[in-house]
Formats: sequence, C-alpha cells, structure tokens
Amino acid sequence: MQRTVILSNGVSMPLVGLGTYKTRGCDLIFSVVKAALEAGYRSFDTAAVYRNEKELGEALHHYLPQFNLSREDIFITSKLSPSAQGYDESQAALEVSLSNLQLSYLDLYLIHWPAAAKLKPEDPRNREVRAGSWAGLEAAYKRGRVRAVGVSNYTVTHLQELLDQTSFTPHVNQVEYHPHYLQKGLKSFCENEGIHLQAYSSLGTSLQSSPLLQDPTICHLANKLTCSPAQLLLRWATQQGVGVLPKSTSASHIRENIHLDFDLSEKDLATLSNLGISHKYAWDPSSVL
Ligand SMILES: NC(=O)c1ccc[n+]([C@@H]2O[C@H](COP(=O)([O-])OP(=O)(O)OC[C@H]3O[C@@H](n4cnc5c(N)ncnc54)[C@H](OP(=O)(O)O)[C@@H]3O)[C@@H](O)[C@H]2O)c1
Repeated sequence: MQRTVILSNGVSMPLVGLGTYKTRGCDLIFSVVKAALEAGYRSFDTAAVYRNEKELGEALHHYLPQFNLSREDIFITSKLSPSAQGYDESQAALEVSLSNLQLSYLDLYLIHWPAAAKLKPEDPRNREVRAGSWAGLEAAYKRGRVRAVGVSNYTVTHLQELLDQTSFTPHVNQVEYHPHYLQKGLKSFCENEGIHLQAYSSLGTSLQSSPLLQDPTICHLANKLTCSPAQLLLRWATQQGVGVLPKSTSASHIRENIHLDFDLSEKDLATLSNLGISHKYAWDPSSVL
C-alpha cells in the first residue's frame, strides 16, 4: 500500500510519483508507464513543456485496463507552461493538457514557474500575469476540471504575495528540495500555511554523475542501512512528509525508487539534513519579481 498525503482540501495524493521530465517518445513512455504501474506507482508528474502529455495519456489509456485500474485509481499532475500565463490563457492551456492526456479532469495542476515566458525575470509585470493565472486555476478548480491546484518554483516571497491577494491558498508548492538544497524557511512557511511541499530533483537531476547520488556521506549511510543512495534520499524526504517525484527510464530504478519501506533514525535524518552543502541543481526562481 502506497503512502499518501492528504492535501488541505481533503484530496489524497501518493507521496511517491513518477517524474517524466525528459522522458519522451512513444516507446519509452509506454515502457516506463508499464514498469511504473507494475511496481505500484499510482501518480505521474508531467507538464505542458515536457511535450509528453499525449504519449503519457495514450500509455495510461492502454495500460490501466491491463492492470485492472481505473482513472480514479491514479493521480495525474500537469503544469501550466510559462508561455500560457494569464486568466484566460491558463484555462485554455488546462483544456489542451486534458485533451492531450485524454482526461476529463486532472488531479493536480500547477503554475510551473512564477514568470511569464515573454518577460524578463526582473519585469514587475510578472506579478500581474501570475495573479491572473492563479485566478484562472481557481476558476477551473471551481468548475471541477482539476481536483487540486498549486504552484511550482514559488519562493516565500512569491507565496506571500499570492496569499496577500487571495484567500484561495495553493494546495501544493513543487520545488527543488534535497539534502544539498534544504529550503528550510520555505518548508516551514508551507507547513504553517497548509501548503504541501513536494520535492523535485530529489536525486540531483539527470546530470551525468549526480553529486547527490555520489555524496560520500549519503553513500556511506546508504551502505550502512543496506539501501541505495537513491532510496535513502527519497526516504529522507518522505519521512518528513515531503512528496517526491523520482524520474527514471530504467525498470529496475523505477522499482527501487518506490520501495521505501524502512525508517531512518532521528540521527540519520539529522545527518542528511546537516551535510553543510548548499547547491541548487535546477533553475533558480529567486530572481523572478
Ligand atoms: N516543477 C519543476 O520545475 C520541475 C523541475 C524539475 C523536475 N521536476 C519533476 O521532478 C521529476 C524528477 O526530477 P529530475 O527529472 O530533475 O530528476 P531526478 O529524479 O532528480 O533524477 C533523475 C536521474 O536519476 C537517475 N536515477 C533514477 N533512479 C535512480 C536510482 N535508483 N539509482 C541511480 N540513478 C537513478 C535517472 O537515471 P535513469 O533514468 O537511468 O534511472 C536520472 O538520470 C522530473 O522528472 C519532473 O517530473 C519538476
């Protein structure tokens, strides 16, 4: 049985979902979805900018009946492209994602990035544009096109601005979060506001040799606990109630990444939370006004 988190509106979301950034092409998506469903994944994370929604929709349509699963058994997240920010645009973009995925509703829809594609990060018009997108997502939520809505790559400043403008609080903030990039302030802000913090790039992105997976302390601790460095990183997050979205195109890694049925001691959790390294591996939204 998969661990889940209950979002502030009562919707249940699996704590582990399959990341699909850079997973493209029909054959690859079909094999990844099959391996994930076999391994027990019930949650999939995509985005308009990943350009794989159509293939993901086809693969789920194909495999769900084979695994005796229905639409309600799975949780699908997609994200608004920075090129579709705005009140009308965000709602139209959601309809395109739904059509690509062959769905009548999404489980979670996120504003992917706090800036608009055509604006520089320091352009103050970003504030207005993302406020419009958020109002668009609220309207879509109220129409039942999505069961939960949220943001991604929002800093405390972006979140505070949003909360000052509306009483409709995001259910999720999806951000980079791992022992090399702790974001303690953001995590406690989200906890206080009832926003679920969901981690991406838990394994250090798809870099050729991930400094996270090769960190000597992480490798040493994983060895001691007879798990892999990837499992250690994923359990470190889920044990704190933080959702994770490991991306893999390898069936054995996909299986490994959801087998997290062990607990870390307080001491081991603290060791990982105090590595003393601060490194962001994905894009940094802190310069976005
Ligand atoms: N909202 C956002 O802005 C945002 C940004 C980045 C990511 N995301 C989401 O988060 C997901 C995950 O982040 P990510 O794609 O940056 O990468 P990640 O999950 O941190 O790392 C993926 C890399 O780790 C390798 N890997 C996976 N399992 C492994 C294991 N058990 N042992 C060793 N290596 C393993 C993969 O290679 P193999 O394929 O060979 O296993 C791949 O190279 C994305 O796919 C996407 O869905 C969201």
